Amino acid sequence: MNPSPSTATRIDIHANRRAWYSRKVLRALLLTLSHQGWLRHWVERSRLSGRFTSRFVAGSTLEEALHVCQRLASEKTLATLDRLGENVTSLDEARKSRDAYLTALQRLIALDLGASVSIKLTQLGLDLDEHACRENVDSLVECAHAGGTRVEIDMESSEYVDRTVAIVSDMHARHASVRAVIQAYLYRSEADIEKLCAHSIPVRLCKGAYDEPAAVAWPKKADVDANYVRLAQLLLDRGAYPAIASHDENILRQLLDYIRKRGIGPDRFEFQMLYGIRRDLQRMLVAQGYRLRLYVPYGDAWYPYFMRRLAERPANVLFLARNLFRK
Ligand code: FDA
Repeated sequence: MNPSPSTATRIDIHANRRAWYSRKVLRALLLTLSHQGWLRHWVERSRLSGRFTSRFVAGSTLEEALHVCQRLASEKTLATLDRLGENVTSLDEARKSRDAYLTALQRLIALDLGASVSIKLTQLGLDLDEHACRENVDSLVECAHAGGTRVEIDMESSEYVDRTVAIVSDMHARHASVRAVIQAYLYRSEADIEKLCAHSIPVRLCKGAYDEPAAVAWPKKADVDANYVRLAQLLLDRGAYPAIASHDENILRQLLDYIRKRGIGPDRFEFQMLYGIRRDLQRMLVAQGYRLRLYVPYGDAWYPYFMRRLAERPANVLFLARNLFRK
């Protein structure tokens, strides 16, 4: 016997709830695994690692990453280079990250591709010594400024937001040539954007990739999405060269509509996406004459970055499994 419409609707609601709950549990599990040192140690050294990272990571060396940036430039796409790594455990490691970024910046500037670099403050010593971290960042921003490019300062989990906004603001006052990142899932983000706009500090707006408690971030995706659109419109109206960083097709279409209706020129902002994600949308934006910059990660310390990409779209776990067992 066919179920009555009301029974069918109830079954649908239960099925949707179960699917939503499974996605939430899997996301939380993947984000928890992203902090497990033992697993990271094992996976990053695995012979099979190249099989599952190649979709999201440009390569293990700077040369491979530069090659990708050149290819992207030939496809009218800009890049921001991310040398993978975060939460270093010694100042020596932090200085090594700074030096690797200085080399990357110098090479990018020499190639004249209009590319920037993206850094994480915990990779430059924020957890160990804020003063040393600031000095490391300062030398990178100074180099970027001299070469006519900028340093984009990624946003990490919520415990770092105050310190990150303060450092970006100081660097902007000293050299300009920086971009802040704001996460739409945090309740505080509108106030942060107001402050950054008041000082004409460029902002990259993303949804946010960490597992945050309901005390600081919207737990429901629908609320995050609605806030994203509101904040993006605010930035498009009042921000200094904002970057709209998302692969959400619905949101991008709403914003493209807004941009057209307001007559906002394509030179006043840029779209940003992650290397290897939604290449169809990437091509569509470039074909329509918009500026697009891809976030291009490289290096051996890919594990936390990779796990956050899996958590964003648990269907990637299936993709990963298929690649792993492919002959
Ligand atoms: P959403 O997660 O709703 O995805 C929309 C659609 O995009 C999906 O339906 C799917 O089609 C596709 N998609 C998204 N993620 C995918 C994935 N991993 N694999 C395959 N398809 C995927 N976060 C942060 O906390 N701090 C930061 O500094 C940055 N920096 C940053 C830079 C740039 C350039 C981007 C694009 C993103 C970030 N992020 C980030 C990550 C960001 O917060 C967010 O986690 C991801 O962008 C996913 O959110 P979407 O806006 O794409 O929407």
